[in-house]
Amino acid sequence: MSTSQFLLSYSLLIIAIIALLTYWITRKFVLRKMNRTILKAEHNYQQQIANLQMQLSGKVNMLESMVEKLRLSNQELNRLNDIRSKFMSIAAHDLRQPLSAIQGFTSVLMMDRNTTGNAGNSDQAALNNILKATDNMNMLMADLIDISRIESGQFSMDKQPFSFNALLTDVVALQNVSAQKKGIYLQTCEYPTDITITADRFRISQVINNLLGNAIKFSPQGGRIESRFYVDNGKLTFLLSDNGPGVIHSEKDKIFQKFHQSDVDRTAKKQGWGLGLSIAQEIIQAHGGEIGVESAGLGQGSTFWFTIPL
Ligand SMILES: Nc1ncnc2c1ncn2[C@@H]1O[C@H](COP(=O)(O)OP(=O)(O)OP(=O)(O)O)[C@@H](O)[C@H]1O
Ligand SMILES: [Mg+2]
Repeated sequence: MSTSQFLLSYSLLIIAIIALLTYWITRKFVLRKMNRTILKAEHNYQQQIANLQMQLSGKVNMLESMVEKLRLSNQELNRLNDIRSKFMSIAAHDLRQPLSAIQGFTSVLMMDRNTTGNAGNSDQAALNNILKATDNMNMLMADLIDISRIESGQFSMDKQPFSFNALLTDVVALQNVSAQKKGIYLQTCEYPTDITITADRFRISQVINNLLGNAIKFSPQGGRIESRFYVDNGKLTFLLSDNGPGVIHSEKDKIFQKFHQSDVDRTAKKQGWGLGLSIAQEIIQAHGGEIGVESAGLGQGSTFWFTIPL
């Protein structure tokens, strides 16, 4: 081998070694670095995607709660709208009916007087009807005024100390007249000591009047109503039991809603508007008490009760 051939082979060998070395270095350092960079970038992206997913689920939750709020306000709007239209129909129909009765009977009276020059025979009956119609109208007007006060947050209580025993005696004496007309026996269990409560006397008598009025209205002829009260745990509890149609389980809360009347007695139902218990509930709650009903079911009678903290 000549010297030039030896040099050529030697240079080729060196070049080959350098190429191999370059390949090895590139592979070992550059590619590894590239891999690391790619892995890091991938990790960053995954983190960003996870963050975005979290933000997205937060927004979805927010949207869901907004949809729920919207649904509830819609429900409330529908309820208010329902109340408004019932108000309208009462104003249009139930207020006009007693009014036209007043007008009709008054003109009968006037005609009678005109033709005879004296008070006619039909005077008494007509006068009674006038009184009944105006009474009904007054009661409805008072209830509607209470409801509108409640709705506008102006239903305030004038709390003064008074004897609960005396109040109950007064209300029972008043309601006993209509109880006797239906042959209903109204029993009051006397409480041995005089209980003084600090409350709005007029409003509490309104509650008992409605409970007692309901019991008389819904009880059958010859029924039996019993009222009692006691003081325990710093509160007064009043209970009124009747042997009327009772209240089915699913109606127990509903009857305390405005305008809600159950279908137990259609004739008795017509003698009211379903406002009394909702107003009673507002009054009792304004005194920090509770009101409710217990009944074993249809035909089993009911016990309405309320509590007032002393
Ligand atoms: N003692 C009772 N026995 C059976 N059902 C009752 C009794 N008291 C109330 N209810 C039911 O509860 C409903 C609501 O009573 P609430 O006193 O609010 O209205 P109302 O008596 O019908 O009318 P209003 O009190 O406005 O004259 C009644 O219509 C009736 O269906
Ligand atoms: Mg009533």
